[in-house]
Amino acid sequence: MTTVEVQVIKLLHRRPPRISPEYSIFRHRNFTVRCSAERQALFNRIAPVYDNLNDVLSLGQHRIWKRMAVSWTGAKRGDSTLDICCGSGDLAFLLSEKVGLDGQVMGLDFSSDQLLVASSRQQESSTPCYKNIEWLEGDALNLPFRDDYFDAITMGYGLRNVMDKERAMQQIFRVLKPGCKASILDFNKSREPITSLIQEWMIDSIVVPVATGFGLAEEYKYLKSSIQEFLTGKELEQLAFAVGFSDAKFYEIAGGLMGNLVVTR
Ligand SMILES: C[S@@+](CC[C@H](N)C(=O)[O-])C[C@H]1O[C@@H](n2cnc3c(N)ncnc32)[C@H](O)[C@@H]1O
Repeated sequence: MTTVEVQVIKLLHRRPPRISPEYSIFRHRNFTVRCSAERQALFNRIAPVYDNLNDVLSLGQHRIWKRMAVSWTGAKRGDSTLDICCGSGDLAFLLSEKVGLDGQVMGLDFSSDQLLVASSRQQESSTPCYKNIEWLEGDALNLPFRDDYFDAITMGYGLRNVMDKERAMQQIFRVLKPGCKASILDFNKSREPITSLIQEWMIDSIVVPVATGFGLAEEYKYLKSSIQEFLTGKELEQLAFAVGFSDAKFYEIAGGLMGNLVVTR
């Protein structure tokens, strides 16, 4: 058994984290699941092993891509920021380091189990600025914030997973202040056949077998179809302009396997 597998088994068997009032998770009253219920259940199931699998499958590279995504937002000290589809909180923690104790970070996700992991990581860390993060259970398609509120927004591996991508982009546009940026990191649906072939080979030959080792084969088989059904970089830029953003630039990263859309309201 590998070290990671041992860690995962420990994670699966540990007691659910206690949530202190200081690090409470707020539930959005009008939150509805509708047809995304299956995806919500999927992300709840993978929550205990999600972080470890990310490290194994990307050889730790996802940390670099996430730092790049946060830098592209231009978030600075004192800003109010939002991480949509925050999962276990990687991007929210990085935003927190950018905005400092004077700033604010909201991490929003519809998976309560992912938010429990995020909250537990926050409690276990001694980094002072992490106190500025609040976790919120809510829907990316119905953001519970007023218009023109945030100075910077991130969304990591979330847009590909929402049922209505146009609505998700409209919601980002609505809650972002004019002139501010959102940075959207995800798998790249490449237009280069060779890149797509490499990506599919990696999913079939590495991702699914490793996930199978963790008992999550079905959950990770969904990855390939979700990339096939996703938008190319050009299409993402077009969607952003159609929604009303004044600027949209798509950057290919990790040799074209990943992509990051940067939009300016
Ligand atoms: C692949 S994970 C990414 C987590 C994290 N951003 C990261 O990069 O590690 C996708 C997350 O999106 C969340 N999600 C998917 N659809 C959502 C929706 N409509 N509203 C809120 N969260 C959603 C899932 O619960 C899951 O935690």
